[in-house]
Amino acid sequence: MRHIVKAYYMGGEEIRANDDINLDIEKGEFVSIVGKSGSGKSTLMNIIGALDVATSGDYFLSGEDVSHMTDNQLADIRNRMIGFVFQQYNLLPKLKVVENVELPLLYANIKAKERRERAFVALEKVGLTEKAYNMPNQLSGGQQQRVSIARALAGSPSLILADEPTGALDSKTSAQVLGFFKKLHEEGNTIIMITHDNSIAIEAKRVVRIHDGKINFDGDSEEYAGII
Ligand SMILES: Nc1ncnc2c1ncn2[C@@H]1O[C@H](COP(=O)(O)OP(=O)(O)O)[C@@H](O)[C@H]1O
Ligand SMILES: [Mg+2]
Repeated sequence: MRHIVKAYYMGGEEIRANDDINLDIEKGEFVSIVGKSGSGKSTLMNIIGALDVATSGDYFLSGEDVSHMTDNQLADIRNRMIGFVFQQYNLLPKLKVVENVELPLLYANIKAKERRERAFVALEKVGLTEKAYNMPNQLSGGQQQRVSIARALAGSPSLILADEPTGALDSKTSAQVLGFFKKLHEEGNTIIMITHDNSIAIEAKRVVRIHDGKINFDGDSEEYAGII
């Protein structure tokens, strides 16, 4: 990202939710983006996740210029490149666990047999193959979040983007979910985790802190732990 600005206009006044963000994230990194409520995290996540475009500045994702894309092009980028994990899991209640995991593959037009195979590989990674034919509401919150991680993994995305992934979980289950992210990072996945919670943020390798729309810390999580 180079000089990313996202401006909103309220009553003739400009609010810069993101104000000159410069950020390089390499393949295979595990980065948390941390900041207080209103600091600009969701705005930044929406741009990183190709859910929205910046007002100005440049954003390249795996070499593709995402800055000036149309809605259809952004949808294609999301399908091909990004696996989302949300605070509220966002599983479809009427689909079985394995069918939920297959959803991104369905959107990517992958055939049924391959979808099922890839969904099982993803469920294996989060240790939930034995729950494949259960309904989501038969699982605990932590297990549902692991299903949503499997769904994010199923499409082999370039980037896993997690928005407050432990926000709805107790501390023991949060630690378990963070453990899965660490394992996925060790396996070479690129992970960006958005959080308001410093104690969660330092579980990543690198911390980027945002304040009033600007980055005011970017470094190793051990260094960050020393200043908070
Ligand atoms: N759609 C919008 N219209 C106007 N202002 C917005 C909009 N979205 C966010 N903002 C403002 O931008 C700033 C950053 O918001 P946001 O990115 O949601 O922060 P965070 O996710 O860190 O809480 C806040 O001041 C917020 O009020
Ligand atoms: Mg937010």
